[in-house]
Amino acid sequence: MEHFNKALTALFSMVLLAPLLMATDPDPLQDFCVADLRGTPSVNGHPCLPPSSAGDEFLFSTRIASGGDPLANPNGSNVTELDVSEWPGVNTLGVSMNRVDFAPGGTNPPHIHPRATEVGLVTHGEILVGIIGSLDSGNRYYSKVVRAGETFVVPRGLMHFQFNVGKEAAAMVVSFNSQNPGIVFAPLTLFGSSPPIPTPVLVKALRVDAEVVDLLKSKFTGGY
Ligand SMILES: *[C@@H]1O[C@H](CO)[C@@H](O)[C@H](O)[C@H]1NC(C)=O
Ligand SMILES: *[C@@H]1O[C@H](CO)[C@@H](O)[C@H](O)[C@H]1NC(C)=O
Repeated sequence: MEHFNKALTALFSMVLLAPLLMATDPDPLQDFCVADLRGTPSVNGHPCLPPSSAGDEFLFSTRIASGGDPLANPNGSNVTELDVSEWPGVNTLGVSMNRVDFAPGGTNPPHIHPRATEVGLVTHGEILVGIIGSLDSGNRYYSKVVRAGETFVVPRGLMHFQFNVGKEAAAMVVSFNSQNPGIVFAPLTLFGSSPPIPTPVLVKALRVDAEVVDLLKSKFTGGY
């Protein structure tokens, strides 16, 4: 019986660990596969444009040469995304980028990327980068003010945020080991889901009154 249990445990760990052995996007089987964004995405990525119509321009992008207006929303930050939807050339290559611009005091609110590790370079300003470990770490909070030219890494799936602590505008460029890292904003997920999470669930989970939950929900209907 004991042997049986051990074998069962081993089997289960193999099944559970199997996805970890391929923790990033799958390897490509060709030099490149420029996404045909008009095609229907399949399980892993977009169909390829015929190589004859996939010219040099697909391997280059000027999109993040300039940034968005950080004052156009209440966060005081603006993400210019450069994943496969904006840059078809990265399809199947397992990489993508973003540029984020911050007004003084602006934040990229706490969020996770479910499908990618992030590496970032602050291009100007002073940005507080905070990363919160999983329960394994006792929810440890790791943080540093990262300045122009300095870098940081956010392990896949961990909650993190950036906050412009400087007096001037700040910006950073980040890269991901996925063509489609995905983003789950904590405030928007809890208080702005559609349809909403039932208030009694959040009352119990957050240990506050319904009025507090409703107030928070009112701040995030419509996406902010
Ligand atoms: C980001 O800035 C652009 C203008 O540069 C604006 O059109 C867009 O709505 C902004 N995005 C957000 C989320 O504020
Ligand atoms: C906050 O700002 C980001 C841009 O940094 C934007 O994409 C997002 O929609 C805004 N809202 C939330 C809840 O994050």
